[in-house]
Amino acid sequence: MSRSKPCFVANWKMHKTIDESDAFIRDLDQLLLESGDIHSRVIIAPPFTAMASIAPSLKWCKTEIGLSAQNVHFEEKGAYTGEISTGMLRDFGCAYVIIGHSERRNLFGESNEEVHQKLQAVRQAGMRPILCIGESLEERQSGLTWSILEKQLSIALGEGDSDDNLCENISEWMIAYEPVWAIGSGLTPTPDEVAGIHQQIQEFIASRFGNNLPPVLYGGSVSEKNIADFMKEVSIGGVLVGGASLAAESFHKIISLGMGAVKSRQSF
Ligand code: 13P
Repeated sequence: MSRSKPCFVANWKMHKTIDESDAFIRDLDQLLLESGDIHSRVIIAPPFTAMASIAPSLKWCKTEIGLSAQNVHFEEKGAYTGEISTGMLRDFGCAYVIIGHSERRNLFGESNEEVHQKLQAVRQAGMRPILCIGESLEERQSGLTWSILEKQLSIALGEGDSDDNLCENISEWMIAYEPVWAIGSGLTPTPDEVAGIHQQIQEFIASRFGNNLPPVLYGGSVSEKNIADFMKEVSIGGVLVGGASLAAESFHKIISLGMGAVKSRQSF
């Protein structure tokens, strides 16, 4: 099991102007300071345009807030119109990159092989991947959930010797289990189901890379209403939040309630 701090990652997707992003960071920093929820790992994945203004303000924040990209290209530079490289992200002090989000896979045709190439690029650049995997509703209903997740993981993590190199510091990554049907739908698997899948993911990684495990996050319709139930589960190392992360107050509430649930499970 991972002993990392509970992680709360805000994926803003294609939302927020620069001014809106700056205001959010100011508000969240203040709310975290007031509530004392500083023993969590809080990360924001803004749109690329807001990174340049958020990055310096994160340095002045009184609480620790990390910066993630939502995507990256695997080449260092070249004729790739509309893309961004790891070097450009590092210019902003970006430490994390979300890779293989289902919206990238389904809307932009990103394959498991491309996810693997992106992981290699991010590792070579010394950044930390937040690798997303998840099954569709059809796959779930056909009983294919684990075989889909296993395939996504196996291809993403690679199989050769050089790939063991790739995964050398896998405990510093995050894996996010995001069932596609739960994203933005208000539907979720039960915390028990998620815990079972997280255990399978951890066993899969342990069988290849030993017990140095990354935190496994859950994502998909996380809200103030369900966060405590998810975070009570020991195998849920944190959450990746979309819609409910767009307002500082609601994202902060999720962090506070989630940390409360972690503390209550630790007192047993
Ligand atoms: P929602 O929280 O809006 O369901 O989005 C989840 C997600 O896709 C986070 O990456």
